[in-house]
Amino acid sequence: MKPDHSVEDRIHHDAVAPHYDALVNVPRDVLSSRIFAQTAKYLPNGRSAMLDLGAGTGHMSARFGSYFDRVLLVDHSEGMLLQARSNLRSLGARAEFVHSDVIEFVEKCEIRFDLVACVGFLHHLASDELARVLSGVSRRLLPGGVLLFAEPIVTKTAEPPLVRWWNAPSLPALSRYLELAPPPEEEMLDLANTKAALKERGFKLVYERRAWELYTRLSGNVVDRLAIAAIDAICHRDGMIWFGVAKHEA
Ligand SMILES: C[S@@+](CC[C@H](N)C(=O)[O-])C[C@H]1O[C@@H](n2cnc3c(N)ncnc32)[C@H](O)[C@@H]1O
Repeated sequence: MKPDHSVEDRIHHDAVAPHYDALVNVPRDVLSSRIFAQTAKYLPNGRSAMLDLGAGTGHMSARFGSYFDRVLLVDHSEGMLLQARSNLRSLGARAEFVHSDVIEFVEKCEIRFDLVACVGFLHHLASDELARVLSGVSRRLLPGGVLLFAEPIVTKTAEPPLVRWWNAPSLPALSRYLELAPPPEEEMLDLANTKAALKERGFKLVYERRAWELYTRLSGNVVDRLAIAAIDAICHRDGMIWFGVAKHEA
């Protein structure tokens, strides 16, 4: 990855921030709810503090933040954090918004957390940066704390026809995202390398699963929810999203 990738990424997210929820999070909301419901039972017993790295508009803090006494959201895009502040008003003073590069943050921060969320963010990093973030996270977790992740990965499997058929009507609207501001070039995560990096830093996977992107067609109504649940159940193997929970073994 190019060294100025982080700068390009910040500029990109500042530009798309006001439209991010409508174009990215809302169409994925049904699938995201399904995915993160599967991880919820692995949440730690301790609920003192949650760290949301590459927090964006705060989608993970909105899902899980209410379980914690303190929620820190870290992002290098001021635009994304501005949206997050507005989305997370219900958390009140428990939510803190940190405008920082994630690597600098995890290497300097002295707080320890029960839950660290990294969603849609780790694949933005070069492999040496990924290693630094995982090391930092391992030091920032309280005993019993967990890392919750969901990331796109490289897969050789073609999208199943049922998934392609379901998503087809949503694609024109989703392509607006790419037109708003060109995203910097980035690669998806290599699954084997990422698992090795986690293991090397003392993480043990306690849950993992794959899924294909499935977009809402009907504003997330009951038909959407039933259809997405059924298609996900049938097609999820070899999907391009890899999500799960990892514990750190000190
Ligand atoms: C694809 S978005 C995902 C946002 C959020 N986690 C979610 O699930 O909706 C990735 C976010 O990571 C942030 N990001 C990328 N690289 C970063 C870095 N090195 N330091 C801080 N934030 C970063 C971007 O600004 C963006 O808000």
